[in-house]
Amino acid sequence: MIIKACLFDLDGVLVDTARFHFLAWKQLADKLGFIFTETDNERLKGVSRMNSLEILLEIGNITLSDEEKNRYASEKNLVYLENIEQMTPDDVLPGCRKFLNELREYKILTGLGSASKNARLILERTNLLPHFDIIVDGNLISLAKPNPEVFNLGARMLGVENSSCVVFEDAVAGVQAAHNAGMKCVGIGSPEILKEADLVFPGFPGLRPDNLVFTGSPE
Ligand code: BG6
Ligand code: MG
Repeated sequence: MIIKACLFDLDGVLVDTARFHFLAWKQLADKLGFIFTETDNERLKGVSRMNSLEILLEIGNITLSDEEKNRYASEKNLVYLENIEQMTPDDVLPGCRKFLNELREYKILTGLGSASKNARLILERTNLLPHFDIIVDGNLISLAKPNPEVFNLGARMLGVENSSCVVFEDAVAGVQAAHNAGMKCVGIGSPEILKEADLVFPGFPGLRPDNLVFTGSPE
């Protein structure tokens, strides 16, 4: 496989915002009177804001009107925005910037493929914006991972075939979205959770573009 582009998820891959999402959802769960754990939070990774709220309400066994759902989703986002206000370029996860620079040396295109509507803001805060040729965020897509829309659009914007793209993901739904797009997927995190990924690394330190060797054709 000749890799022409790498598409990166944001939350949990380039920056550790999962804990900020968790804290904001937990605050809402506390308000609604039920317990929401970090294990529950795994189910929300890679999932859009409204779908995350649906899962949260299912965990708490709570039914709300659409109006209430919209209000609580906005409230959660305000708490999340407060939490990420403190982010700086130092919050980029170790090795990411170096890896992104190396991709440039290899003339491999780079794209962001995130479900988050706050993605651009986080890229600006952390000074990651210049590393990306294109950005697909939650404002451009309507179908949540594991639907491949986010990665299909990324490949189209970069002008490359899906089969020459590699996706970097920390969430099970994201790995499935990559495969549904016919792309190879590198899991960033634990091999127990990311069983379906083609390769899994704990993070970017030590990872180099020549380590991206895949066998077989994209699923
Ligand atoms: C994903 C996160 O990247 O973005 C999810 O993994 C989050 O946890 C989703 O719910 C939507 O984010 P936002 O910033 O639009 O609420
Ligand atoms: Mg993620």
